[in-house]
Amino acid sequence: MIDIDLLSWTSMGVRWLHFIAGIAWIGASFYFVWLDNSLRAHGKLNPGVAGELWAVHGGGFYHNEKFMVAPSQLPEDLHWFKWEAYTTWLSGFALLIIVYYIGAENYLIDRSKLDISEGVAILIGLASLGLGWVVYDLLCKSPLGKNQTVFSAIWFGLLIAATIGLTKIFTDKGAFIHVGAIIGTAMVANVFFVIIPNQKKTVAAMIAGEDPDPALGVAAKQRSVHNNYMTLPVLLIMIAGHYPLLVSHKLNWLLLAGFSAAAVLIRHFFNLKHRGTMQPALAAGAAGLFLATVFVASIKPSTAVASDADDKVPDSVISAMMETHCVSCHAAEPSNTMFPAPPGGVSFETLDAVRDNAFGIRLQTVDSDIMPLGNATGMTEEERATLGRWLDQQED
Ligand code: HEC
Repeated sequence: MIDIDLLSWTSMGVRWLHFIAGIAWIGASFYFVWLDNSLRAHGKLNPGVAGELWAVHGGGFYHNEKFMVAPSQLPEDLHWFKWEAYTTWLSGFALLIIVYYIGAENYLIDRSKLDISEGVAILIGLASLGLGWVVYDLLCKSPLGKNQTVFSAIWFGLLIAATIGLTKIFTDKGAFIHVGAIIGTAMVANVFFVIIPNQKKTVAAMIAGEDPDPALGVAAKQRSVHNNYMTLPVLLIMIAGHYPLLVSHKLNWLLLAGFSAAAVLIRHFFNLKHRGTMQPALAAGAAGLFLATVFVASIKPSTAVASDADDKVPDSVISAMMETHCVSCHAAEPSNTMFPAPPGGVSFETLDAVRDNAFGIRLQTVDSDIMPLGNATGMTEEERATLGRWLDQQED
């Protein structure tokens, strides 16, 4: 008998594609930023050339020349870089639908935060992507966009505000993925709406025998620089789902801000280095920020040690808790029809099974609120603390 789990296989295939396209895009994008920074204008350059670079790779020598604004004659065969970016967005958007919109009930909505329907949740998600781009684009075109530092501070602040807002609406993972998608959408829209059209206009002007407008190149460069600095924080968000200790931390927005700032600093360090300026303070600052963020994440409020910490939690309380909040999914035969088999291969029908999975349960349910998935049964903070105490007591 063949029984294809279409949604899961599609999810796997699309995720793989998203990953591959992302590597191709970021690889090319980082290469060109590196190339741009590494061009030198020593010696004799060909007419119209602003800088050149020699490199050796894969058994051959490469000679790059950058023409500003464009070569006097257009080559017949001109390569455009755009499908890497478009494929990354299209596959990422498909994945957002497959995982978070089709699975909204479990992965996006957290009724203990906000009681909304699937339709409303999805609309909020989509609106956040659209609004993100509109605000970002207006900001770029405004006078504020001309000052790199001011622009960065405002955009960074807005993204953190979006993180705080979305984590109050969605599950933590759902909120984080939307912040990643807001940034990713802005990056791809930069390619689609600004960088490629401006390059096309430059080429069209040349074909018409006119001098291309240098402002087109300047605008494209602005967006390209933004994309370069936004890349590392997006990548962090994309893997953050694997780390409940980050995504489900009470101060998750602050941790994201800290790590992202570290990422921007290290990117800046490398950009300057490739231009020939070493600024070790930037690298040290990035490392310091990373460690400081880890430190902040690890501060445990002293109230966590409750006065009733020593009271023995009766086994029956935990059995009932599992029955209420977990067993509908985590059973040999789940009553939740979404799951034909116990998710993650774990069932919690006996307390021995709960003890065997103490590590995972602590991670997913006590230290974070990832489980119960979607929290349809409204598990409270108190119950989580009680479960944590019971797990502690099992170790003694
Ligand atoms: C609505 C269904 C559902 C409920 C209810 C639920 N879980 Fe889960 N659980 C899942 C799914 C699905 C996974 C697989 C991971 C994923 O897809 O995020 C999972 C994975 C886990 C894992 C990780 C297993 C592994 O190692 O891969 C743990 C631990 C866990 N759940 C604990 C709990 C606990 C404890 C409760 C009750 C407090 C609970 N879950 C309630 C659906 C559920």
